[in-house]
Amino acid sequence: MIKNDDLELQMQRLDLTATPPTEEPQRQYFYMAKAKKMVGELTARLGRKPTFCVTTFGCQMNARDSEKLSGILEQIGYVDNGTDEKSDFVIYNTCTVRDNANQRVYGRLGALSNYKKKNPDMRIALCGCMMQEQSVIDKLKKSYRFVDLIFGTHNIFKFAELVCDMLENDDMIVDIWEGTDQIVEDLPIVRKYPFKSGINIMFGCNNFCSYCIVPYVRGRERSRTPEDIIREIEMLVEDGVIEIMLLGQNVNSYGKTLENSISFAELLQRIEKIEGLERIRFMTSHPKDLSDELIQVMRDSKKICRHLHLPLQSGSTRILERMNRRYTKEQYVELALKIRREIPDISLTTDIIVGFPGETDEDVDDTIDVIRTVGYDNAFTFIYSKRTGTPAAAMENQVPEDVVKRNFNRVLATVQEVSKNRTIVFTGQDVEVLVEEVNEHDESLVTGRMSNNTMVHFKGNEELIGTIQTVHLDECHGFYYTGHIAEK
Ligand code: 5AD
Ligand code: SF4
Repeated sequence: MIKNDDLELQMQRLDLTATPPTEEPQRQYFYMAKAKKMVGELTARLGRKPTFCVTTFGCQMNARDSEKLSGILEQIGYVDNGTDEKSDFVIYNTCTVRDNANQRVYGRLGALSNYKKKNPDMRIALCGCMMQEQSVIDKLKKSYRFVDLIFGTHNIFKFAELVCDMLENDDMIVDIWEGTDQIVEDLPIVRKYPFKSGINIMFGCNNFCSYCIVPYVRGRERSRTPEDIIREIEMLVEDGVIEIMLLGQNVNSYGKTLENSISFAELLQRIEKIEGLERIRFMTSHPKDLSDELIQVMRDSKKICRHLHLPLQSGSTRILERMNRRYTKEQYVELALKIRREIPDISLTTDIIVGFPGETDEDVDDTIDVIRTVGYDNAFTFIYSKRTGTPAAAMENQVPEDVVKRNFNRVLATVQEVSKNRTIVFTGQDVEVLVEEVNEHDESLVTGRMSNNTMVHFKGNEELIGTIQTVHLDECHGFYYTGHIAEK
């Protein structure tokens, strides 16, 4: 991350007739300056600033990547049009973890082609995980010729350079890398919220769960150095951020690939010392790598939020083995109960897949048993989606759709019953709430989150956004509360 004013100064000093630098991020600063000049010419021709719209599919990693794309676009002179897909530059940052995410992208591209016919200046870019799949690229090249720019997860840092190419060429530009060990620092970013931010601490994944496409599209695990992470957080705090979310596919193995190896728990302790930072969240933890050291650091911390997302995927040891999760039902339950014992007010959430190849009703009974034993505060339940190229896609015994549906409903009903009983326990308490926005449905209310991530609505106005308030919880409505600001 770099401050906008500093970047602007650097860009102004560049000689655009010189050969572009080979070093990063200087090379991208050069292309940002060049793109800015081209966007200036476009502005003069249109008689207004060109607009852009970035749509994010998928996870928080992708949301953070989209902020990087927006940062560059604003730096070069585009203005954000929110969600208007009739913008001059439309970008879809895609996800491919389940097939329905892919289908949504194709659906929306259909509508875009009509808008583009009416606005010949419109440019369309696709990026993100889905673009790392050859079959997707083949399909786009064949049937979606109106797309202007396609790039992947490994070369997002060179977006400015790609935009220059796109503005200079009418042909479809496709630039997909197989992988990278490069991490480019100090590019501009705009945040969706002024008071909270995600931060990448690592990229990629080495786990190869047999159903999951992420290791193939996001590449091998790479950690950022603690110095870079802390420097970024300090800059964010200086800029008004009080809550951060540390992002990685498997944060518990953070630091293992660094020259000076450091554990995730140690990183958290260093981040805790940053003055002005109030709340620390992180996502996602793999149960096999979650250490006792981390539980202790969480327990003793004043800033780490009382929330842990601990994906179970299945409660059946037999299925877990076929999933290559490297823990058993018993090991998972023991870990979850240890966490509940050490940090009683923690909220535990999870991900569950129903319909993995070979899954029987008895396996689902095991999953339901774990849901009841652990007592999740919330769980995201997914129907298994076959991802080409993963080991599970080639497994026999794919489960029939009607069986999957029936078991999915059983799991969902259990999750709802269990989580309702968990959320309600805070009724009548005074808790700290970080106010995030004015309530969408009722302007007299604001909406915020407790440390454990539960949503709370209470009377208030815009001025409270970004502050932490002590709120008395009056009533639990399933997964959220209503309350009022507590008297001091
Ligand atoms: N099918 C269904 N769900 C999946 N997930 C990952 N891959 C698949 C798949 N092929 C789920 C997992 C993961 C979450 C991000 O998405 O539960 O934790
Ligand atoms: Fe995120 Fe995985 Fe989807 Fe990529 S495929 S956006 S890493 S959930």
